[in-house]
Amino acid sequence: MSNPEGELARVERLPEAWRDLIEAAKEARERAYAPYSQFPVGAALRTKSGRVFTGVNIENASSGLTVCAERVALWKAISEGEREFDALAVVTDVGATPCGACRQVLAEFVADIPVLVANLMGDVWVLSQAQLLPLDFPRQSLQILLRGGASGEPSPE
Ligand code: THU
Repeated sequence: MSNPEGELARVERLPEAWRDLIEAAKEARERAYAPYSQFPVGAALRTKSGRVFTGVNIENASSGLTVCAERVALWKAISEGEREFDALAVVTDVGATPCGACRQVLAEFVADIPVLVANLMGDVWVLSQAQLLPLDFPRQSLQILLRGGASGEPSPE
């Protein structure tokens, strides 16, 4: 992507596959469970194999237990055996970007995919996962720890 801050686009000018993903997220948003914030979020994650998994935010009276729409979509996909992803769409009233926790969770599975951040008026901010989280906490750090630290001898593989 040329512009480091992504591109702003109208939904009708986007490729059909992206329009469909945004539409799936928008429909999912209708099923959000957000009685406390009144801020419904819909997400749709497309796998490399072409399946689409949607998610909504699911709030809880014990507010720390609320789960974001993006993570619900990802966990549904992972629990169905999917590991490779193609694009993510997130729809909110105002076009809000995914929270930091969701960016890190996504980084576990994707190096970089388009993230389509849409509002209800059809404006889409086309970003990428790498733009949203340029420096994640890398899985590799844990592997280094397990091998006895960065200066330790690598374990034979
Ligand atoms: N929320 C999401 O679903 N995704 C995000 O990336 C940020 C926030 C939800 C959580 C909560 O239900 C509501 O939006 C307000 O924070």
